[in-house]
Amino acid sequence: MERTVKIFDTTLRDGEQSPGCSMNLNEKIEVAKELEALKVDIIEAGFAIASPGDAAAIAAIADTVKDSTICSLARCVEKDIDAAWNAIRLANSARIHVFLATSPVHMEYKLKMKPEEVLESIAHNVAYAKKYCSDIEFSAEDSTRSDLDFLCRAFEAAIKAGATTLNIPDTVGYMIPEEYAARIRYLREHTSGIENVTLSCHMHNDLGMAVANSLAGVQAGIDQIECTINGIGERAGNASMEECVMALKTRKDIFGIGCNIDTTQIYRASRMIQTITGVPVSPTKPIIGANAFAHESGIHQHGVLANKETYEIMTPESVGIPKNAIVLGKHSGRHAFEDRLRELGYTLDREKLDKVFAKFKALADKKKVIKDRDLEALIGVVPVSGEERYTLDNFVINSGNSITSTAVIRLKKGDQVCERVAGSDGPINAAFRAINKIVGKEIVLEDYSLKSMTDGEDAQAEAIVKIAVDGSDIVTGRGVSTDVIEASIKAYVNGINKYFLD
Ligand code: KIV
Ligand code: ZN
Repeated sequence: MERTVKIFDTTLRDGEQSPGCSMNLNEKIEVAKELEALKVDIIEAGFAIASPGDAAAIAAIADTVKDSTICSLARCVEKDIDAAWNAIRLANSARIHVFLATSPVHMEYKLKMKPEEVLESIAHNVAYAKKYCSDIEFSAEDSTRSDLDFLCRAFEAAIKAGATTLNIPDTVGYMIPEEYAARIRYLREHTSGIENVTLSCHMHNDLGMAVANSLAGVQAGIDQIECTINGIGERAGNASMEECVMALKTRKDIFGIGCNIDTTQIYRASRMIQTITGVPVSPTKPIIGANAFAHESGIHQHGVLANKETYEIMTPESVGIPKNAIVLGKHSGRHAFEDRLRELGYTLDREKLDKVFAKFKALADKKKVIKDRDLEALIGVVPVSGEERYTLDNFVINSGNSITSTAVIRLKKGDQVCERVAGSDGPINAAFRAINKIVGKEIVLEDYSLKSMTDGEDAQAEAIVKIAVDGSDIVTGRGVSTDVIEASIKAYVNGINKYFLD
């Protein structure tokens, strides 16, 4: 029988905790549904003790997702484990993931614990978690800078206490592939009981080797890869799911290992994470970057036209990149619109479909040809659920290079209409200031970007803002329009609405 490796996705935990990648409750639920559609084996939905919001999101995901195991992270602390169990207990299949550092530097300076105390804590807390749940993962944080014989003892303690998965993370992204594989082989030979548990890798990308290290681990006997969509995660990120999965699939001749992922969902999942976090991937990012399947040079184009295999080792269809078969426009009806969305892999509920269709019609009045990226842009801006507190009613901007820019902004809040004027040295800042006056909160703009979503004169612009409202965590807002100022205002208002939704 073919060997398979489990895919453990930590986009919603390690990914979400990285700077600029935070998501609200509704966004996390949408991502979890997409991970389920991808057929991820285990979804690490968060770190329940981190905040009541995290715990609520994990609980909502546990209640929504049926096919993947739902996992919460916990330190080796009873109250963490209580919170983790509380959050995941409604899941069809639940896992508690406890971790404790085992490297000398972490034990001495972070934990301030002696090695023997670390072993006792592992034994105690894994056993404590086991009272709640049969599926327990133990991670030896910073395992790749830990003494190997001590690591064997730590893992033996975890196995004896009931751990069913042992994770061997490269917390600081320090490994090179052969070295990691050798460590895995050593652990397999010197840890008693290790043959009865699943071994997992969790590689960070500080030296750009997270994917290579994960694959080397798999060749040395690892059965679970921990990874994130687009490789988001602490510092330089985690191993990217799409790269690990497509490497296993494309080089099956070498690995001879399968996994359960539906690779045709990869593109969609990647777009979703980029849209929600406002963190774009580089055009040259393997598998899902804009250039990953583009052939620019004449020689390459000639080769691909003659036979795709000359320069393509996998097909765009295999990762769900849609073929640009039909183009929609002003005269396209709801059927054609719904069909195209379905072909792109979107199944929206009636309410969301109505909203997107109304936006599609409005856009078709401004833009002759509506392409797939336009449709995706429209889907991305429709609020996942929940009421929008503020909507843009009207704006007037007066700007030039020899005058102070002024903005008159009118927002609707329910039936109420609020209008304010503000000035600044640029039109967008003036608009943001006028909105601040309406909302009456201290809003700090941490980041702002603007890019074109499609080509041509009537291209849609996508604005992304990162704001902090009254000292809140950073919220990402997104707005799309054929007018760059309108896109920016919509992004700002979207960020504010998301702040109020949380
Ligand atoms: O990088 C790491 O070590 C982690 C653990 C909590 C698994 O994220
Ligand atoms: Zn990590």
